[in-house]
Amino acid sequence: NISDYQRLHIWVKVMNHFQWLSHLRGRRWHIGWQAEDVDCPLECDCPSAYPTAMYCHSRNLQHVPFVPSHIKYVYLQSNQITGIQHGVFDNATSLVWVVLFHNQLKSDKIGLNVFSKLKSLDRLFLDHNELTQVPPNLPKSITDLRLGHNKISKILPNTFEGMLNLTTLQLQANAIEDAGGVFKGLKSLTMLDMRKNQLRKFPDNLPERLQQLYLEFNNIESVPANFFNMHPKLQFLRLAQNKLTDKGLPASVFNVSRLVELDLSFNKLEKIPVVSRDLENLYLQANKIKEFSLSSFCSTIDMTNYSKLRMLRLDANEITAKDIPAEAAYCLRHLAYIDL
Ligand SMILES: *[C@@H]1O[C@H](CO)[C@@H](O)[C@H](O)[C@H]1NC(C)=O
Ligand SMILES: *[C@@H]1O[C@H](CO)[C@@H](O)[C@H](O)[C@H]1NC(C)=O
Ligand SMILES: *[C@@H]1O[C@H](CO)[C@@H](O)[C@H](O)[C@H]1NC(C)=O
Ligand SMILES: *[C@@H]1O[C@H](CO)[C@@H](O)[C@H](O)[C@H]1NC(C)=O
Repeated sequence: NISDYQRLHIWVKVMNHFQWLSHLRGRRWHIGWQAEDVDCPLECDCPSAYPTAMYCHSRNLQHVPFVPSHIKYVYLQSNQITGIQHGVFDNATSLVWVVLFHNQLKSDKIGLNVFSKLKSLDRLFLDHNELTQVPPNLPKSITDLRLGHNKISKILPNTFEGMLNLTTLQLQANAIEDAGGVFKGLKSLTMLDMRKNQLRKFPDNLPERLQQLYLEFNNIESVPANFFNMHPKLQFLRLAQNKLTDKGLPASVFNVSRLVELDLSFNKLEKIPVVSRDLENLYLQANKIKEFSLSSFCSTIDMTNYSKLRMLRLDANEITAKDIPAEAAYCLRHLAYIDL
């Protein structure tokens, strides 16, 4: 029988050993250390309260630690990881989230099949890295893929093939000039973010289910003629900071009833385009608009036909409050905010 004193002594020795190790590895010491921790890489924390999570963020890691098989959620953000070596996820086939944003990942240092066995992967966050390509062989189970703030300039044709559950795709702040038809067949995609790229036109073959399309800060000059016929569910279209002119907008292209928000600010429009009476938010500031055309909002003016517009921004154009006709009060009766 060992005495309490001896027990304490052993415990202190064990403590010191682990404190020393964890100090060496820059790992935070957890008083709640338990047997589960044994199956956790020394660089990371696997709190017993969250037995399927592995926390390895913000600790100057330069590589991805081997992920044990019981882990579903792995947090590796804000490190200095440059690559993903073969096999690190091979045992962790039930991974659901892999969080790797704010690292220094390079495309040529990511193994060809590192993600391909993760049949349950739902979210893959690779934003704020140095990727020049979308990693190949991504699992078809992914619903939320974040690749913003990288250096991607080209997307290979079959990159997203078969990703039928993908609903959110973020590609903002890359260097994409032409996405080709890579989004074709993504039948669950509802949100596509391609802000801050170098697009000169709308991406081809956008999925029919799309509800939110963000294309601000590109070089787009026109809107395709039957765009809304092919994308009947689109509710939010943001095209600010492009090179749109009146000539680039087919007649009545925005007179579609699903649209809730339309951002056309910081372009080169001279006229207010015709919009649907169901539109609620219209941003037109910083264009070259010279006249206030009430017919853009209401084709006829009477007691029953009026616009649902709530927010209208027209500041930094070439019109003033005096240019707004009195009948606007009937047509724009829901307007809560107008900026001139
Ligand atoms: C991966 O899992 C297998 C089977 O459970 C196990 O034998 C092996 O040690 C694991 N690999 C690592 C590096 O933990
Ligand atoms: C897509 O989602 C459905 C429904 O959640 C699921 O049954 C199916 O297995 C998923 N497909 C893939 C490839 O994971
Ligand atoms: C916009 O579309 C509606 C419904 O299709 C139609 O009644 C209206 O005249 C159109 N507005 C203009 C200005 O073309
Ligand atoms: C005005 O509204 C009424 C009722 O909503 C509708 O029947 C009629 O077609 C509208 N007129 C025009 C010109 O849109």
